Amino acid sequence: MIALKNFVIRLFVLLVLQTLLLESSHSQLSGSSSILGEVSKQEDIYQSRGEKVPEGYVVDRSLLAYTFMLSSEFDRSLANLGPTDRWLDIGAGQGQAILDYYAPRYDAMHLEGRERRGKKAQSVAISIEDRRTPLWRPTAASLDANKIRYLFGKRLREYSPEELGKFQLITDLLGGFSYTTSLSLFMENALNVLELNGSFFTILLDVHAENEANRRTASDSPFLTTLENADGSELKVCSWLKRIPCAEVTCEFKESPPVEAYRIRKVCNDVAVPALVPMQFKAGTPPERRFQMAR
Ligand SMILES: C[S@@+](CC[C@H](N)C(=O)[O-])C[C@H]1O[C@@H](n2cnc3c(N)ncnc32)[C@H](O)[C@@H]1O
Repeated sequence: MIALKNFVIRLFVLLVLQTLLLESSHSQLSGSSSILGEVSKQEDIYQSRGEKVPEGYVVDRSLLAYTFMLSSEFDRSLANLGPTDRWLDIGAGQGQAILDYYAPRYDAMHLEGRERRGKKAQSVAISIEDRRTPLWRPTAASLDANKIRYLFGKRLREYSPEELGKFQLITDLLGGFSYTTSLSLFMENALNVLELNGSFFTILLDVHAENEANRRTASDSPFLTTLENADGSELKVCSWLKRIPCAEVTCEFKESPPVEAYRIRKVCNDVAVPALVPMQFKAGTPPERRFQMAR
């Protein structure tokens, strides 16, 4: 049954990618069959278990690691959530960050806002594959019903907004935003389930930073995620995000590891994400990707 489900998911991804590729008029897509091969390799990474999990595929980052790598605003935003608020972690892996949030140590380390926090926000973890450890179930059982949920077997784009509901805070630490074959669709879906005045915190590893802190020469290897305008000129991820109407965006470069951390606050409802067409995809942890602005 699980094998059949995985096959259906894989087929779906291939069909979506094929549609996207066919929609593009760009000649560089002559290697689309190899792109489909890369998507299939990527699926093997998601489904890898035990010794087959590639070294760089980290699924157990703590909440402390989230705080360290995401925008400096993240820690305060999470600590300020109240018991009726909701937190979505896209690409949650084991869901360790969520488990850490409910551990008694969290309140001891975040005395400010403790009263307001009360029994804490409701959290939803989503992951393509089920990476829960034995710790998830007893933690869920010790909390109010549905306080934490772990959803798997689908990508973000496969959930309807009704299925997920709305969230005051969304995180994605080397999850869907770093792994998706369709960056603009992913962003659209994330902002769709973000509540007005809520924030989406995410990062990209090895990407050309807005502040030029990691400028490269032409002979250097390309960045992991690259965007270009329709005329082929470079478009920085930060500049692309800043083109989204109704999104207030901050971009923060961090040295080690070299990531650009994004905070995207939804300030009105007329969000329209500038469409990107996938041009290149090479499986990895995370994959190498190149996208071009749609004409
Ligand atoms: C490298 S792990 C990161 C896990 C966790 N955030 C951490 O830092 O430990 C990548 C996670 O992203 C998930 N993922 C990748 N693309 C996704 C998508 N489009 N929608 C939902 N989850 C996705 C994978 O299933 C996996 O759970």
